[in-house]
Amino acid sequence: MKHKTGLIGVGKMGEALIQGIQKSPLKKDYELLGSTASPASAESVSKKLGIKCFTDNAEVAGLCKILILCVKPHQAEKVLKEISPELGSDHLLISICASITISQLREWSGGKAKIIRAMPNTPALIGQGMTVLSPDLKVSSAHLEIAEQLFQSVGLTAMVEESLMDGVTGLSGCGPAYIYLIIEALSEAGVKVGLSRKLSTLLAAQTMKGAAQMVLSRDGEHPAAMKDEVTTPAGCTIDGLMALEEGKLRVTLIKAVLAATRRSQKLRSVSGSGLK
Ligand SMILES: NC(=O)c1ccc[n+]([C@@H]2O[C@H](COP(=O)([O-])OP(=O)(O)OC[C@H]3O[C@@H](n4cnc5c(N)ncnc54)[C@H](OP(=O)(O)O)[C@@H]3O)[C@@H](O)[C@H]2O)c1
Repeated sequence: MKHKTGLIGVGKMGEALIQGIQKSPLKKDYELLGSTASPASAESVSKKLGIKCFTDNAEVAGLCKILILCVKPHQAEKVLKEISPELGSDHLLISICASITISQLREWSGGKAKIIRAMPNTPALIGQGMTVLSPDLKVSSAHLEIAEQLFQSVGLTAMVEESLMDGVTGLSGCGPAYIYLIIEALSEAGVKVGLSRKLSTLLAAQTMKGAAQMVLSRDGEHPAAMKDEVTTPAGCTIDGLMALEEGKLRVTLIKAVLAATRRSQKLRSVSGSGLK
């Protein structure tokens, strides 16, 4: 029998998850349902993704024992209070809402459902996502396995204690945007040295992907050691690296992650309507 799984909110991230799961072998084990705020969105989700999509969140919660909360953080409280009467101790509630803590999720959902906080990222759309999970203490290994399976169908997963989730948001949750910016800058550089825009973007993106795969394939090796391997004494690369050091690339990236991490912490302290 298929696990009925309801996605409450099918916007950018909900859609990425659904499409990722639909393209993966997991498709045969899970029946996906959705709910959105407006009937127009529900209709377009049904058409585009081929799933049943409702505008009544309580109906989805009544039908599905696994729920993935994919609304904006400031919408989470209202939605969870709406579905709380439907939730029992056999429900697994996975929230991907940035900043919203497990204790807030527990309080708003009525305290019965088992809760896992997750932070995925948009490359889930093509099966290359990175999702970090943080389970509540009461979550069983069977429920944790379900969450891992779902998110592993759209990429890699890792687990951290909840206090690290804002940092995760600042690094891998927001990270795709940083990488797009770096690819764009490298592509500009290619144009500056005479390459076409199309070729420059291909060279930048494939180089980024290749280097990332090298790092992943040499699990545990420090990236600095890999950088040294490709840096010939008095060669070209060291001159490029020197320019990056002068431009403070490393400290700039560190500051970007810190700024996004602080924002994630701040969103929580500005309760209710402050959350966007
Ligand atoms: N985008 C990212 O890169 C990313 C990465 C990691 C985590 N996240 C988290 O993912 C969550 C969703 O972000 P997003 O970018 O996908 O947002 P989004 O594109 O704005 O989508 C929000 C979805 O929630 C629905 N919704 C709003 N109010 C609702 C209600 N009362 N009941 C049911 N559905 C409702 C919307 O339906 P309508 O279309 O009808 O309004 C829409 O389908 C956020 O909490 C964010 O923190 C996002």
